[in-house]
Amino acid sequence: MDLENAKRKTIFNFPKTKNSLLILTRTQGKMDNASCVLEKGKIEDAERIYQIHTSAIKQLCSSHYGEKEISLWAGKQKQEKYVPFLESGDMIVAKKNGIVVGFVHHIHHAKGINTEQCSDDSKMEIKGLFIDPGFARHGLGRILFQEVEKIAVEKDVKVMTVSASLNSLPFYQKMGFKEVDRKPHQINCQCSVECVSMVKSLPK
Ligand SMILES: CC(C)(COP(=O)(O)OP(=O)(O)OC[C@H]1O[C@@H](n2cnc3c(N)ncnc32)[C@H](O)[C@@H]1OP(=O)(O)O)[C@@H](O)C(=O)NCCC(=O)NCCS
Repeated sequence: MDLENAKRKTIFNFPKTKNSLLILTRTQGKMDNASCVLEKGKIEDAERIYQIHTSAIKQLCSSHYGEKEISLWAGKQKQEKYVPFLESGDMIVAKKNGIVVGFVHHIHHAKGINTEQCSDDSKMEIKGLFIDPGFARHGLGRILFQEVEKIAVEKDVKVMTVSASLNSLPFYQKMGFKEVDRKPHQINCQCSVECVSMVKSLPK
């Protein structure tokens, strides 16, 4: 086992507790003794989720989109829009010292509901995966993604889908996704941002 895989194994060997999905402590590598907890997002996390979402668009997505697109995209977000997703339990947050530093919103499309991205029966869609820019490239995106992938496997889902922003393409490629299409994501009637439709097949 190489060092990177050994580190990942260490991460996932940490036990679950009653209230959290997973406790993560990385003593080697990028997390430098930081301790991170994954848990289902709660209504009171909506404000931090909103802050992370808008700051990640402004700071991390701006490498691949124009100023006007970024401003409209970030400006379109509203704190209250996360509430139904938090109520339905479809958002997982990563917390460091009790503060949300990243989140993932996932949707399980049950059999018979097809998205445009592929025709398989049951799918897990990543609707949004955003990391506080101050914590980007510390392994948190992978950890949140793998938690959703684990839920997908538990639900016997065979395909995961995402409409990835251009800046996140290398990340999703690393997570095993393949590009299938490029499409505009409509921000408003005058503005759209190009996104990449990607799929990942899970083991049968
Ligand atoms: C994309 C995003 C979620 C990645 O999260 P992250 O915590 O920075 O990613 P990680 O540190 O877990 O990286 C996992 C792997 O992807 C690679 N990676 C991550 N971002 C990358 C980038 N922009 N370019 C190239 N590789 C990248 C890392 O190098 C790492 O590979 P390694 O393990 O072989 O070293 C984060 O940058 C983000 O929030 N971006 C803005 C929001 C966004 O675009 N979200 C996607 C829309 S759904």
